[in-house]
Amino acid sequence: MKSVELRKKYLDFFAKNGHAVISSASLIPSKADNSALFTMAGMQPLVPYLLGEKHPAGKRIVDIQKCIRTADINEVGDDTHLTFFEMLGNWSLGDYWKKESITWSFEFLTKELNIPIERLAVSCFIGDNNAPRDDESAKIWQDLGVKKERIAFLSKEDNWWGPVGQTGPCGPDTEIFYWKANNLSAPKEFDPNNKNWVEIWNNVFMQYVKDANGNYAEAEQKNVDTGMGFERTLAILNGYENVYETDLFSPILALFPGHLDERKKRIIADHAKACVFLISEGINPSNKDQGYVLRRLLRRMMVHARGIDKYELFDPMKEVIKIYQDIYTLDEKFILSIAKSEADKFEKTLAGGIKAIEALDIIDGKTAFALYETYGFPLEVLEEMRVVENREDFFEELKKHQDLSRTASAGMFKGGLADDRPETVRLHTAHHLLLASLQEMFGSEVKQRGSNINSERLRIDFSFDRKLTDVEKQKLQDMVQSKIDQGLQVIKREMSLEEAQKIGAQMEFGVKYGNTVSVYFIEDKNGKAVSKEFCGGPHVQNTKELGKFKIIKEEASSQGVRRIKAVLE
Ligand code: ALA
Repeated sequence: MKSVELRKKYLDFFAKNGHAVISSASLIPSKADNSALFTMAGMQPLVPYLLGEKHPAGKRIVDIQKCIRTADINEVGDDTHLTFFEMLGNWSLGDYWKKESITWSFEFLTKELNIPIERLAVSCFIGDNNAPRDDESAKIWQDLGVKKERIAFLSKEDNWWGPVGQTGPCGPDTEIFYWKANNLSAPKEFDPNNKNWVEIWNNVFMQYVKDANGNYAEAEQKNVDTGMGFERTLAILNGYENVYETDLFSPILALFPGHLDERKKRIIADHAKACVFLISEGINPSNKDQGYVLRRLLRRMMVHARGIDKYELFDPMKEVIKIYQDIYTLDEKFILSIAKSEADKFEKTLAGGIKAIEALDIIDGKTAFALYETYGFPLEVLEEMRVVENREDFFEELKKHQDLSRTASAGMFKGGLADDRPETVRLHTAHHLLLASLQEMFGSEVKQRGSNINSERLRIDFSFDRKLTDVEKQKLQDMVQSKIDQGLQVIKREMSLEEAQKIGAQMEFGVKYGNTVSVYFIEDKNGKAVSKEFCGGPHVQNTKELGKFKIIKEEASSQGVRRIKAVLE
């Protein structure tokens, strides 16, 4: 069976049973939903409706939802794990309940897909302090002809779903399993631990709402939420061993030379797909949130693709676009341009990074983060080359870094200030003078690439491709000092973004500004500007207030970017 056929059969069947067909929501949850970075299940975009809001399409909904799950990224390459997948889902929003839901699932599998009942087994919730044993579902299955021995009762770990995040709709579920071995008939009794039984469908009976205190309250509106893995089901129906044999993947795998390691092929194919969809949703590679996930996927794909004969890095992405072009809108030119610019960035440091990694026997979490910062190597890539010890330190460092860059961009008006104590404010003005002096010394091509200021020191990252000599450092320090000593005025002026750009005010690369901006001018008595920068302040009024300026460190920050730390004494 081809993927188009399964799509159609599924949607048609539920449409015939009164469901409205809706299109897939975005992979990126709405702003109001901060429970997850990505849509990980079909029900996620429907949460407001599961909680009682009226859905414009009615009480019975069916769709095929794009999903991303990265928790198991290291498993990608086996037969079933994928980062991007689609989920077939049908919902009752306060409408039908267990009987209809189970009956339709059974009918769809046995009549529409012609799966023999002998190859099916199910599990139901065994019950605990929060909810009773689900004999009701088991009875419905038995009435449909499923033998008692093929029904297992399992605990919350297996037969309970949700909420996504800490709170929200959830409940017991009944899962449907398919016996995948073609050469071995299914045993009479269902053993959930036998790997030949694969889960294909999950029907969740959302009878509860979990609150922030961890209590399960009876839901005002009872819903049914179902999810069937599209790729997995398609593989099974065709008798394939793995999802990569389906038409959703096979054209991508066919691009690689036959002898290439199977796992490599699969990782590249999986990541290429996730990247295409993430970029198509407007995500840009970056150091945080969705952008960081995209960066990891793109770079991991590139590392695996290194050295493959007669192979173009972006061909798998092009193939992905072909596979899905009739289903989703995917702008090839746009998608490839984003991927290429990230590839160019990574390419520059790739060889150096590999050398640096090869020089180390074991890598700890902190070093792993430094390697990521300097060479852009995602943790998963490092882990394929070396053992990484204390990997949690990587995430701790990343979090620290993300918190800083978040402060810097959210508080962009504060120019990367950690607080507004007088020492911090003085260092902030010194920061402007330092940037101006750097440009005076090395030319206006030198741009600010980052900044961080606290009450003890300032830090500036700027584009420059070599180490500064001692003489240069001294000269730079003297230039800043001379500006301080001249007692220059610091003046804030509001203007349109356009005007600020026209007068050449400095802005940090990559930061987004609003339409009206404030620009800080540092100028002499005749109104000649020594410095003009997009900035929200706060600043001192006169540079005399700064006292004595001293550079304490000059070092590499990343490829083509240097970092200076300085203090006021
Ligand atoms: N929300 C349920 C799942 O993802 C259907 O398995």
